[in-house]
Amino acid sequence: MTRGATAGPEGAGRIRSDAAAFAAASRVQSTQATAGEEELERSLRPRRIDEFIGQQKVKDQLAIFIEAARRRGQPLDHVLFAGPPGLGKTSLAQIVAEELEVPFVMTAGPALERKGDVAAFLTALEPHSVFFVDEIHRLPRALEETFYPAMEDRKLPITVGQGAGARVVTLDLPPFTLVGATTRTGLLTTPLRDRFGVFHRLEHYETEELASIVRRSAGILGCEVQAEGAIEIARRSRGTPRVANRLLHRVRDFAEVKADGRITEVVAAEALNLFEVDAEGLDRLDRVLLEHVCVKFAGGPVGLSTLAAAVGEAEDTIEDVIEPYLLGQGFLQRTPRGRVATPAAFEHLGLAVPSGDGLF
Ligand SMILES: Nc1ncnc2c1ncn2[C@@H]1O[C@H](COP(=O)(O)OP(=O)(O)O)[C@@H](O)[C@H]1O
Ligand SMILES: [Mg+2]
Repeated sequence: MTRGATAGPEGAGRIRSDAAAFAAASRVQSTQATAGEEELERSLRPRRIDEFIGQQKVKDQLAIFIEAARRRGQPLDHVLFAGPPGLGKTSLAQIVAEELEVPFVMTAGPALERKGDVAAFLTALEPHSVFFVDEIHRLPRALEETFYPAMEDRKLPITVGQGAGARVVTLDLPPFTLVGATTRTGLLTTPLRDRFGVFHRLEHYETEELASIVRRSAGILGCEVQAEGAIEIARRSRGTPRVANRLLHRVRDFAEVKADGRITEVVAAEALNLFEVDAEGLDRLDRVLLEHVCVKFAGGPVGLSTLAAAVGEAEDTIEDVIEPYLLGQGFLQRTPRGRVATPAAFEHLGLAVPSGDGLF
């Protein structure tokens, strides 16, 4: 029942600058889909709710809402999924449509520029469709208000004519379910957020869950992975299924060329070392940044712009692409005076932890 993307590729324009896009695309450990990965993602994407691994609470609740909506023959309440890239928001949106057996229509916040764009989508929906708006926090503010009556009363007021002769006509919309996805709930306005009846925040995955995802994906790709091999890949995947699948893909190539094709623990570890993904899931760029803070800036604090110039990356790239995981893993801290490396960062790089300067 899935109908393809109608406006723009998935998550179109999700990265702020070209430099950030380049850095994301060239990195093994980027949580964002890189150019040319759509095909792989499509083939590995879970279609039904029981193929979706982990996020048990989210699945349990969704299953109940879906069943209730089906029994009543009514559209599902509007659903908002929040969480970092690569955790399964788009997959879940498609699963909702699949389980409800209704059409899936997809667009992204930045692809909707004018009221007419929204009207074109909403008026063309088949009854009960899932209308998926990715990156909904990037919807232009002026358009948000168009969504309020549409979500609440299935009404779409539009202005016809110009100047003194202009008047507002209200269109009736078919029943539909809006599914929104956002990487930044903080950027969503309260009135918009409040109009979603169901809200789920996706969390990073446990190693065991990622290992299951690796095993499932290996099955689809037709490659043999041993339990320990799957764990090794999972451990270095930043809690993110998208990264796990990408690493599996690369490790498979390595296993075919350098070994007998089977992904054992040793093969996985060797491959990932070769690709410079270390035991904590950090890649070269992560380590370069940490080294700068630890060595060049003596542990910090160092301001974002100074750090960006030293590392030779755009500030955007550092904030959006590199830092989140380092902050989350406790290698880096943000303070009012700048970035500070933690003792864990020094230890991870094999450096002596400085003492007595009052930073910690
Ligand atoms: N819970 C999961 N189980 C299995 N695969 C998953 C799961 N979550 C994500 N994936 C895989 O990770 C990839 C990225 O997921 P996606 O839904 O596009 O994430 P997001 O929209 O949050 O960035 C998908 O291709 C899918 O194969
Ligand atoms: Mg997505």
